[in-house]
Amino acid sequence: MQKIAVIGTGYVGLVSGTCFAEIGNRIICCDIDETKIASLRRGIVPIYEPGLKELIDKNTAAGRLLFTSDVGAAIEASDIVYIAVGTPMSETGEADMKYVKDVARKIGEHLNGYKIIVNKSTVPVGTGELVRQIVSNHRKYPSVHFDVVSNPEFLREGSAISDCMNMDRAVIGSSSDKASKAIADLHAPFGTRIYLTDLESAEMIKYAANAFLATKISFINAIANICERVGADVVQVSEGMGLDSRIGGKFLQAGIGYGGSCFPKDTFALAHIADQSGYDFELLKAVIRTNDKQRLIVTDKLKQAIGTIEGKRIAVLGLAFKPHTDDMRYAPSLTIVPEIVQLGASVSAFDPIATETAKPLLPESVRYCGTVEEALEGCDACVILTEWPEIVGMDLTRAKRLMNATVLIDGRNCISPLSVQQHGFTYHSVGRRP
Ligand code: UGA
Repeated sequence: MQKIAVIGTGYVGLVSGTCFAEIGNRIICCDIDETKIASLRRGIVPIYEPGLKELIDKNTAAGRLLFTSDVGAAIEASDIVYIAVGTPMSETGEADMKYVKDVARKIGEHLNGYKIIVNKSTVPVGTGELVRQIVSNHRKYPSVHFDVVSNPEFLREGSAISDCMNMDRAVIGSSSDKASKAIADLHAPFGTRIYLTDLESAEMIKYAANAFLATKISFINAIANICERVGADVVQVSEGMGLDSRIGGKFLQAGIGYGGSCFPKDTFALAHIADQSGYDFELLKAVIRTNDKQRLIVTDKLKQAIGTIEGKRIAVLGLAFKPHTDDMRYAPSLTIVPEIVQLGASVSAFDPIATETAKPLLPESVRYCGTVEEALEGCDACVILTEWPEIVGMDLTRAKRLMNATVLIDGRNCISPLSVQQHGFTYHSVGRRP
């Protein structure tokens, strides 16, 4: 049993803190946001993540998971301190390190004995060293030692709990063998493969992994756009490519591009890190541009399918950046819905979870519906932006009866083309053969 403080109760901190508690450690999750901590203490979880609330309830009841806004006390009561605060994108594209620096100062001030300081936030290469300096400069007792470790997070929203319990690998970077071993031991109950490295390489692995996955997505999206022009089917192309074990089939699903809090932020940050190091990462910049442009294909397809958009009624199914989350950060819907509204159409939107998150971010005129059917009623075209199960499994016979015109733009290639055709829809996908 380890005594661990996890600073930052955002997505990463909350999920990993809870999973570490689940395997028997005593975890204090802390945050300077007192309202958030008060809610968590009452069992109110600020994010939607399948299974998280149940696991939090179970571990708080068992006394293994505690919440506090007294960050200093949590640090003093722990042997391992995880930094899991946000590194939002600044205006220039680089990661904003303010919160990480604040936490490092706080750790220094409350370093009352040897501690292992672990960075889980996605941070530029060199941050581990920066944390070491800040902690060192703010140490109340200069004779007290500490080690710094980088242990980046690879969880996906929507499947974070199972990802955490069944990680492909835990990357642990440090110059201290003692600290690396302690963090490797912490992961032992998960049965995770451990990859030990130096601090800087661990920090780079996180950015490189996300940038590579983003590259796969932009690559297949570009191939999809070409498939449409030359008469090939991107689903078959992607499957055929993925069968080559050197390529692998994952992250080759064509669509309207990646969103979320990670890929957009981390690709920008890595391009910026590269620029600063004197290397022009042209490949990654093209990945970002390709992704930005990919969102625009929806309105192009809509125009192609129904002619003028002005005065039409469009059903938008799915608003979140991907299914099983209410996260709207960099969601393609944030570009596509305002564009449709700007072109003069009225939008009826449905998302099973993200409606409340979406409301302040989308045009006021958008009408939010409680079901797929309600959104489809009387619409001239239906646009799928997120492949939620209730959208993928919609009743096409009923949909046809409800809609004004049977036009379906499938931005996620999630509906069977054969089935839509059998139901008499005009189907537009991203690079699938009609
Ligand atoms: C991503 C990584 O997958 C995680 O490993 C990483 O820990 C996380 O970022 C992070 O840095 O914290 P996440 O953003 O939750 O996780 O979601 P993904 O499932 O990776 O999807 C990202 C976006 O790519 C979504 O918009 C999704 O729709 C899109 N995508 C994904 C595609 O368009 N095609 C695909 O084949 C796969």
